[in-house]
Amino acid sequence: MTEEKIEYIQWYPGHMAKANREIKEKLKLIDVVIEVVDARLPLSSKNPEINQYTWNKQHILLLNKADLADPDVSQDWIDWFKKNTDIQEIMLYDAFDRRHKTELVKQIQRLNVKNKAQLKCMICGIPNVGKSTVINSLIGKKKTQVGNKPGVTKGQQWLSTPDKLMLLDTPGILWPKFEDPLVGLHLAWLGSIKDTIYEKENIAADLLKYLVAYYPDELEVLYKITLDDKNLPEVFDAIAKSRGLLLRAGEYDYTRTSVLLLNDFKNGRIGRITLERP
Ligand code: G4P
Repeated sequence: MTEEKIEYIQWYPGHMAKANREIKEKLKLIDVVIEVVDARLPLSSKNPEINQYTWNKQHILLLNKADLADPDVSQDWIDWFKKNTDIQEIMLYDAFDRRHKTELVKQIQRLNVKNKAQLKCMICGIPNVGKSTVINSLIGKKKTQVGNKPGVTKGQQWLSTPDKLMLLDTPGILWPKFEDPLVGLHLAWLGSIKDTIYEKENIAADLLKYLVAYYPDELEVLYKITLDDKNLPEVFDAIAKSRGLLLRAGEYDYTRTSVLLLNDFKNGRIGRITLERP
């Protein structure tokens, strides 16, 4: 295990460009755009192209998976988005919390300035931020499949909710070029990029570097290790050792340790963590 340079990740498969075009065709029907980002990386997971969809629409931004994010930093992000964007509503959201769903419905209805009988809302965002889960929370039952792998294409579909909303479910889309290499790395951490196009060991090493700097206590508790003044490769070894991830005697399995670390972050097992700050 050596310290690596940031891996430059780009991923914009053809089906996303096609989905982007299809969304644009449907836009004239839409009253409210509900944009979903991941509260742990709210800026990196915000597709800049979605601004093209929202300029003449009501716009709600959900910082979803707020239950997995650092609450203090989340509040800073809410303040930042309020100050730096003209988005009408910005909410911390946990798609499994019914109170959040009730609040979201209230906010959507508040934006119904033309008093329409049925508001049409589009749910959009990059892969794996929780769009399907948000939709399921709004329709009150499992209608759309959760946990699809990025890269698996999914069509657009209209769904109705008990609160008289029509929801347009859209596939997760990224944008053609990440100007900042950190964005590609962040999106790989979130599981929003197909995992065959990057080296897991590299992106796990970068994640570990951040966690050691900002969330050392959480690492020590989860993996039952002590960080003391260990360097990064030594921390990696300590995790592998603590979890018994060995290739053979005395040799650690870096691939399995990388996958473990990335999955533990993705699923919130390390703790409430936010990986970028305003
Ligand atoms: P997508 O449509 O945007 O692609 O995302 P999806 O709803 O499929 O959700 C992706 C994963 O995130 C799912 O986990 C889902 O349960 C989880 N998730 C969504 N919203 C929230 C939330 O507010 N809080 C928490 N804690 N988790 C949320 P999964 O089925 O385990 O999929 P995966 O992570 O193995 O891909």
